Amino acid sequence: MYNNVPCVGHANPRVVAAMTKQMSTLNVHSRYLHQGILDYAERLLGLHHPGLENIIFACTGTEASEIALMTARIATKGRGIICTDATYHGNSSEVIKMAIAGSSGKPAHAEFRAVPFPQKYRPIQDGLDDDALCDVYLDKVRAAIADFERNNIPFAGMFVCSILANEGLPDIPGSFMAKATAIVHAAGGLMVADEVQAGFCRSGDFWGYQTMGFTPDIVCMGKPMGNGLPLSAMAASADHVAAFRKATRYFNTFASSPLQAAVGMAVLDEIENRDLLRQSAAVGTYLRDELTLLKMDNPVMGDVRGCGLFTGIDWVTKDNQPDQEGAVAMANQLKEKGFLLSNAGALKNVLKVRPPLVFEKEHADRFLDAFKAVIKYG
Ligand SMILES: Cc1ncc(COP(=O)(O)O)c(C=O)c1O
Repeated sequence: MYNNVPCVGHANPRVVAAMTKQMSTLNVHSRYLHQGILDYAERLLGLHHPGLENIIFACTGTEASEIALMTARIATKGRGIICTDATYHGNSSEVIKMAIAGSSGKPAHAEFRAVPFPQKYRPIQDGLDDDALCDVYLDKVRAAIADFERNNIPFAGMFVCSILANEGLPDIPGSFMAKATAIVHAAGGLMVADEVQAGFCRSGDFWGYQTMGFTPDIVCMGKPMGNGLPLSAMAASADHVAAFRKATRYFNTFASSPLQAAVGMAVLDEIENRDLLRQSAAVGTYLRDELTLLKMDNPVMGDVRGCGLFTGIDWVTKDNQPDQEGAVAMANQLKEKGFLLSNAGALKNVLKVRPPLVFEKEHADRFLDAFKAVIKYG
């Protein structure tokens, strides 16, 4: 239930065959052009919105985030980056600054500003309707941009996970993502969507930014892309990628290889041939509907939310306070029953449920049986 890397299943025969075949014929690095990587790039870009025209491959989500940061800064000649206050985009010395910017007690780096992540369940202000609440969160984005201006830090853009997965999969008020994108654009910045967790059908659409209704300038991808083979990428407009390449002459030994291409293609074949996009949306909705029914009799389940095969259960105490301990206890009891999930989110009290794309209704039923048994006796 906590498996967002081997998205088309462990030891997937199609992926293993593609990997074995490629490794037993040719594997070279990105200094050599290979038809396989061109075909894969074209196919992957074809799944995105048309503004994403070019792609750079890497091996980890951190590298994709790093390339995205550099691309936003090179394209805008800016430095200032807005992120959320409970995020994680990777752990290189530059990318980790976004996580640090949001963590209390640690001084944020001058070029990063963390804004409160938008949410309806524990809203920043009570008693507001959806649009008014959205506006309060957008004001924080405007304030961060103004703060950069005051400090003579030219603005580069905003960096968000499309579905705020690490923040705890909150229900996002109004059209926050689209409106934030417009604000960022008006200030000369670029919108970066981190699809490392959200992408590849997990959200019930192919990309999380489709689910959340916005059009990012830059997208990072990773985790499920290679079903476990290190494979990640950043996509942007042809101009932005050209500017990045000119400024950095970026090279990554194991990236853009025929091996990555063969495996990446096999993953896309599996997703398409088995109609895993439809399955992710349908099984995810079924699972959430059942969990929502359970919530009625179990007030410790404060909130059940999410999209596609990505569900968050906000665990709370009797007086409705975030309950990290309760979430950990639940995860441990479920582990005893053979189901792995974990406590995550800004307050570490959200049970994060993210099974692989091959998860079917019968698996959801098995999980629900275990969940019911544990919550009953827990
Ligand atoms: C949203 C998000 N972006 C980026 C990363 C970094 O990916 P990697 O661990 O492959 O460097 C992670 C890893 O958990 C992530 O959750």
